[in-house]
Amino acid sequence: MTVATDSKTASPPLSRRLKDETHEIHDSLDSRISGLSPFLSRAHYACFLRVQLRFQHATARLYEDAQLHGWFEGLPRRSRLNLIEADCHDLGLAETFLVVDRSIGRSVRYDDPYEAVGWLYTNEGSNLGAAFLFKRAEQALGLGADFGARHLAGHPEGRGLHWKRFKAQLDALPFNDDQQGKAVAGARDAFAFVREAVEQVLARS
Ligand code: HEM
Repeated sequence: MTVATDSKTASPPLSRRLKDETHEIHDSLDSRISGLSPFLSRAHYACFLRVQLRFQHATARLYEDAQLHGWFEGLPRRSRLNLIEADCHDLGLAETFLVVDRSIGRSVRYDDPYEAVGWLYTNEGSNLGAAFLFKRAEQALGLGADFGARHLAGHPEGRGLHWKRFKAQLDALPFNDDQQGKAVAGARDAFAFVREAVEQVLARS
């Protein structure tokens, strides 16, 4: 007797699994970043930007991927690559650093499209949580959506709504349990990638 359809309907929504199964790694990263005071000065914040630059380059290919386009309508418009590049330029980051950070980001490889969806989740979610970071960048450093903190700004349609639309697309994917597990693994890899960048750049600032 086959239970293939049962296992599909029994799975929790993908967005729920991703959130629950990255909760711990997110909290740990959040505490680590906060503990390193990225908004202490523009020099500290510049190191935070380098971390974000690595991550946006690591995920940039996802926004151009044909298979992912089929799953996520409007995906290219979600990319924040140009925004982080502009932020780095605003803060006057040295090109020698940028070259290294771009190259580290671009060196990431995805094993399959399910893992890629997990990376996409982590990147899209990071913009939801960035509301708080954006306020700190404004208040502590005088930055904003037009200078220096563009990549942390909310989407014009509203940060919450923008996220809600993405979550609906995630939950419409016909992934079985195994494929969902691969997406979770990808999301966790993305958090680990950012954590490593934090240790290499922000923790040494
Ligand atoms: C100090 C740094 C950070 C803080 C304070 C923070 C804070 C938050 C908060 C408050 C939320 C929930 C927002 C809401 O539900 O309205 C959130 C969501 C999220 N953040 Fe962060 N975050 C930080 C860094 C990051 C980073 C670097 C990443 C990615 C590598 C990330 C990935 C996510 C994801 C994926 C979600 C969505 C969770 C869900 O599925 O609902 N966060 N963050």
